[in-house]
Amino acid sequence: MLKRLELINFKRHKRLAVDFTDGLNLITGPNYSGKSTILQAILYAFGGPRAVPGGKSVVSTKGGEGPTTCTLIFEIDGQEYTVNRKGNSATVWKGEELQAKAASTVSTYLSELLGMDMRRFHQLRYGEQKETEALLTLGAAELHKIIQEVSQVDVVEKAITYCSAVISETKGALSALPEEDIKALEQEVEDLNSELTQAYAMLGQLREQAEAADKQLEAANAELDIADRQNAETKSRQRARQSMESDLDKLIDRDKELSTLQVRDIKELEQTVEELEPLLAEAMTQQKYAERMVHDLRAAAGTVESLKTRLEDTERLLAEKQAELAAMPVMPPAEAEEKMLESVVSEKAVLETRLAELKVAKETSFCPTCKRPYEDDPAHLESLHKDIDTFTKRLSQLDQEDSRYRARIAEIKLHKTSREKTEAMIGRFQYTQESQHRDLEEAQATHAELLRDDWGGKLVAAGKESTELSARLSEVKPELTQAIQLQAERAEVENRIADISTTLKQLPADFNFIPIEPLENKIEQTRDIVYQSKALYSEAHSNYTGEYAKLSVLKSRLNDARSVEAKRGTLQRRNGTAQGLVKYLRANRDRFVSEVWDGIMGYASEFASSSTGGAIEQVIRTESGSFAYVEHGEEHPVEAASGAQKSIMGLGVQLALAQMLPTSLPVLLLDEPGADFDPERALAVTSLLAAEQSQLVMVSHRELDGAVASNTIALGG
Ligand SMILES: Nc1ncnc2c1ncn2[C@@H]1O[C@H](COP(=O)(O)OP(=O)(O)O)[C@@H](O)[C@H]1O
Ligand SMILES: [Mg+2]
Repeated sequence: MLKRLELINFKRHKRLAVDFTDGLNLITGPNYSGKSTILQAILYAFGGPRAVPGGKSVVSTKGGEGPTTCTLIFEIDGQEYTVNRKGNSATVWKGEELQAKAASTVSTYLSELLGMDMRRFHQLRYGEQKETEALLTLGAAELHKIIQEVSQVDVVEKAITYCSAVISETKGALSALPEEDIKALEQEVEDLNSELTQAYAMLGQLREQAEAADKQLEAANAELDIADRQNAETKSRQRARQSMESDLDKLIDRDKELSTLQVRDIKELEQTVEELEPLLAEAMTQQKYAERMVHDLRAAAGTVESLKTRLEDTERLLAEKQAELAAMPVMPPAEAEEKMLESVVSEKAVLETRLAELKVAKETSFCPTCKRPYEDDPAHLESLHKDIDTFTKRLSQLDQEDSRYRARIAEIKLHKTSREKTEAMIGRFQYTQESQHRDLEEAQATHAELLRDDWGGKLVAAGKESTELSARLSEVKPELTQAIQLQAERAEVENRIADISTTLKQLPADFNFIPIEPLENKIEQTRDIVYQSKALYSEAHSNYTGEYAKLSVLKSRLNDARSVEAKRGTLQRRNGTAQGLVKYLRANRDRFVSEVWDGIMGYASEFASSSTGGAIEQVIRTESGSFAYVEHGEEHPVEAASGAQKSIMGLGVQLALAQMLPTSLPVLLLDEPGADFDPERALAVTSLLAAEQSQLVMVSHRELDGAVASNTIALGG
């Protein structure tokens, strides 16, 4: 349904907006007010400039400013669409969604949306001013084309072509299908199946047998294990007993051996040891004592010898010193020389004092005695000089004497001293000699005393005795040790004999071994059975598997054959259907066309009859394809009809065709269809149209038409 049209600079409409409703939309107004332009604008919206007589050049308003703009809003199946053409560009919207841009794509989109191309839409949905009967004079070819569309004869042609293709294709496919004897295959599958069922049952039995044999083998093995374990235990018990018995034998032998040994009495041996040991100790003490004595004797002999030597040394030295002393001169005492020295010394002292005085006098030239200077008395001075001289000479003489006396005294003293020394030494030697002599005597006494016993002999005897004793002890002691050991060993051996005998009495003496051989034979036999049954099973199994695989192959072959058969059936059915269809389509094609024409003519006749109040009884189509009508029972060519009659018949044919070729936008645009009618007739036609069509946009200058309009669009001058 058309809803709204908006125009800017479209022909004489600089700016125009029109709303449409369903039912009859009547456009009224004076001549040249732009009524026809509105219908053209609607066609322009759908098909562009080509839809308008004169095309693009005549569309835009003369002297108008800006591009020509045409916006049409319409609704299909409750969905609103907006198509907009502005200058050279175009858009179409479905609700808010842009569907196409650019003039050509928009036109394509719209013709697809309407369900027919714009030329056909124009032809069937638009009745141009003064061209209402156009369809009556349409060429046979164009009419045929419309009828083909209406009756879908071209579809029939296409179907025939398609079916012929299907026929040849299915023929080819059928001849390509392989031939397979399904019955034989099915029999084969069935046979194999039943064979396999039996084999399967057999397989189960064989498996059970193999499993049973396995179990038997397991049991036999377990039995052997138990027997082995028990035998091992028995064996170890037997070994224990044997080893004990052999131990016992050995011990008894040893005991016998021990009892035959000549073992001396331990007590006796102990006593002997007890006796010998103190004797040995005594002998050793003696030996030691004798040793010491021998040592002492040797020492005493040594002492005597050394003392003798020393005494001899002392005596020799003494003799030497005595000889020395005898050789020394005997000096008189030094008394006289000491007296002489004393007088010399005193004289020297006097003279030295006198000379010192004289020398002072000489220095001072003053005589201390006379208390006068010497100058006054030369003789005196000369006497002084003479005195000094005399005194000096005498002093020198005295000095010589002093030295001589002193040397003599020293010599005497030296002699005396060395003599005294020698004498002292002699004294000492004599003393030493005496003491050494005493010592020697003492040592000789001791030596003699020691010599009195035969310590050497005693030492030898004691040594011999202790050697003998210790030899005897070393014989007896091991004997004693051995006797003790043997006694202990015997006790031990007897203890052990008693122990083992007790144990042996408690141990079982007979040993029962489980015979192994029969068990092993049984295992061997069972194993053979296992092998055989397993071999049987595996052979049967592999046979079964092989047969099963064969069955699978057969089954798949059978399946293939069945599907081929199904396909063959399908192909044959298709081929048959196609052939039947072709036959039917060919036979009925012409009938369809004439039926369509009958329908169209029936509708047109009805319309014409209603609109003319029965004056036109029937509209028909002649053999040649042109239109004719029946009036008062007589057939006339359409050219013979009045303008109004032609208009009515044209409208009838148009409505019939429009009915037969439906569009998604069922609107009819009519420009003054009833121009040639008288007013009543016009109203009748208008009413009829308004009743038949869901939406009608019609230009009319007849005011009466307003009575049946549901929407009137009145344009000004
Ligand atoms: N491009 C144009 N610009 C302006 N006016 C135009 C244009 N084309 C046609 N017209 C004018 O529009 C009028 C024709 O309009 P039309 O729709 O046929 O009127 P009606 O159908 O109401 O008689 C004429 O007056 C014509 O001069
Ligand atoms: Mg007009």
